[in-house]
Amino acid sequence: KFSKNVLMPLVTAASLLVAAPAALAETFKMAVGDAAGGTQWELGTTFAKLFQQKTGGKHKVDLFPNGQLGSEEDTINNAAMGTLDFSILAVNNITPFSPTVGLLTMPYLIQSADEAKKLTQGEIGKELTDNTVRDAGVRIVGWAYSGFRVLTNSKRPVKTLEDLKGLVIRVPKNEIMISSYQAWGINPTPMSWSETFTGLQQRVVDGQDNPYITVSAMKFYEVQKYITNIRYIFSLEPLVVSEQVFKSQKPEVQKAILEAGQEATEHSFKYLLETEDKIKKDLAARGMQITDPANGEKEWIAKATTAVWPKFYKSIGGKEKLDRAQKVLGR
Ligand code: MLT
Repeated sequence: KFSKNVLMPLVTAASLLVAAPAALAETFKMAVGDAAGGTQWELGTTFAKLFQQKTGGKHKVDLFPNGQLGSEEDTINNAAMGTLDFSILAVNNITPFSPTVGLLTMPYLIQSADEAKKLTQGEIGKELTDNTVRDAGVRIVGWAYSGFRVLTNSKRPVKTLEDLKGLVIRVPKNEIMISSYQAWGINPTPMSWSETFTGLQQRVVDGQDNPYITVSAMKFYEVQKYITNIRYIFSLEPLVVSEQVFKSQKPEVQKAILEAGQEATEHSFKYLLETEDKIKKDLAARGMQITDPANGEKEWIAKATTAVWPKFYKSIGGKEKLDRAQKVLGR
């Protein structure tokens, strides 16, 4: 039988273990905002496999999908404090912490998967990574390329801005995305990603936007019927590591993290190109009706770029950042 005095040190030792910095753990924890099976999962599992190989099995990563470790915003706070090691989340949910990454969510700036790659790699990607370390305490070490965000809803086919009126659309808590819908004539409902499925299921909101692959991984086809290819943002979903955790690693482990991140990023790009079309067909086979906006996206583009871009020049670091991005994209 343990006396109280014998028990005390055991309790203290146990709580010390729980409170030990993540850096000491051989197994790292990775939060994944989406359910298993989408582009975030593909990036995370590929990274985990490569990282384990590169450290000769000394380090391993456990993935926690579907917002199990909190909303995507919570995971940034936790990683910044060093209580979470890794997180994969949409870049739009980092913008509130590090506004310059908002460049990547400027509506209709990115017009293809290749352009998304160009902006995230090279000089601009490096600058955004440095800013994110400075502003949010997390380091971007990889990217999931998830495809263009399309609008889904449960009520009716949306082809024109007129059709949008009266629909309650969930958006991330991201000012640029909120402003985009306002430019299109409605007031959207900001809601955490982790609450979105339930929000759609319980009809608190009628619709939302995300890429085909995410719509499929999240099983939104169970609660949504119509898709409109508004393609206003190319969804980029970074893998971030807590800067505190990263800094506390030995140089060879840091190197393994960076290399595994880069290789997993390359894999993610290929995965998107190989998978997106199949998933689009599968969503149609499951009964979703997919449509393009009437007259292409012209009206949507014109309204969003004129009303939204100038409003966010300051937060992305000045109009010159957008001009530079367009130059990189050859415009
Ligand atoms: C969001 O809509 O909040 C995110 O883009 C969802 C995601 O992380 O896939």
